Amino acid sequence: MNKIGRVGFVGWRGMVGSVLLERMRQENDFDRIGEPVFYSTSQAGQPGPEIHNGPEPLADALDLESLSDLDVIISCQGGEYTRKIHGPLRRSGWRGYWLDAASALRMDGNSTIILDPVNRPVIEQGLSDGHRDFIGGNCTVSLMMMALHGLFERDLIEWISVMTYQAISGGGARQMRELLIQMGEIHGLVDPLLRNEAGSILDIDSRINRHLRSGMLTTDDIGYPLAANLLPWIDSDLDDGTSREEWKGVAETNKILGRENNPIPIDSTCIRVGTMRCHSQAFTIGLRDDVPLDELSEMIGRANEWVRIVPNTRDATLECLTPSAVGGTLDIAVGRIRKSPAGSRIATAFTVGDQLLWGAAEPLRRMLAILEERP
Ligand code: HSE
Repeated sequence: MNKIGRVGFVGWRGMVGSVLLERMRQENDFDRIGEPVFYSTSQAGQPGPEIHNGPEPLADALDLESLSDLDVIISCQGGEYTRKIHGPLRRSGWRGYWLDAASALRMDGNSTIILDPVNRPVIEQGLSDGHRDFIGGNCTVSLMMMALHGLFERDLIEWISVMTYQAISGGGARQMRELLIQMGEIHGLVDPLLRNEAGSILDIDSRINRHLRSGMLTTDDIGYPLAANLLPWIDSDLDDGTSREEWKGVAETNKILGRENNPIPIDSTCIRVGTMRCHSQAFTIGLRDDVPLDELSEMIGRANEWVRIVPNTRDATLECLTPSAVGGTLDIAVGRIRKSPAGSRIATAFTVGDQLLWGAAEPLRRMLAILEERP
């Protein structure tokens, strides 16, 4: 096995970065790296994490000279950092590999979106075309593609309509905290009423509703009440009736598949719900063939080692096809697989996956392994 030389980590203390480091430690990935270098945008000089030989001082993530000594940079620092540093670093002549969790470079012609269980050939093509920017996909997109991998690889999908139920972790660590604060505030408001079993649930409900509308709930980070509520808009408004998150669903999927010229239509409504770190999605899928249900299930279940088919029964679904069952694991749970009464070439399915693992950190660490394997 080859070792890759100097690998710089930027944004490793944030939520995605921390999950990445945890996974890399679990898989002993650091043994295969010549020299990891940890960066900070604000705390250069302070001790970094304990990896090979005790903590080294953090390097300055804004220092182009230091960055240009690296073979690979992995950034989980966010799009603003990417936009600030990537261009100047490339223009200075740096020819290393830039791996990034942020969306800033995803749709650039010179970048490849990485989800190797699904698009290894597209990644190999990118490498042989001389691409040096390899970018993790949007979490919802990656989780959908892992779930429906078996249908994508057979080119069985004519179109998809998807409703997403996206966890608050997609909005970042502060929003996760705020959701819990909101839950606590709402509970605190009605706690005395709840204790009185003879009290009216309608009184409790109207008190909560008044509070949600009053502007009194803490909403500094999320912007709106999410506890006891849901928010059917994620990311910015593209002024054409769709959200950026919905646009990514179709644009990134087709780029990941390398079929920008023959795109699969994907229509999504992206919804934020009050779950912690698993994105769930309900698909209606137009199939090119009338594949029998058991074959469909088998194709989905066999496509990769992470898909877990959940039998379409009440008990199995409620036990295994939920964010609480899947969170913190690499499982891609897929269930509720049925044919639609609207037509035998229309199927439905529901999936749940951890948006910090397959949705963010895992494709990055696997790309590093792909670079290591290169001659
Ligand atoms: N945009 C996603 C979300 C997370 O807000 O859930 C990152 O891909």
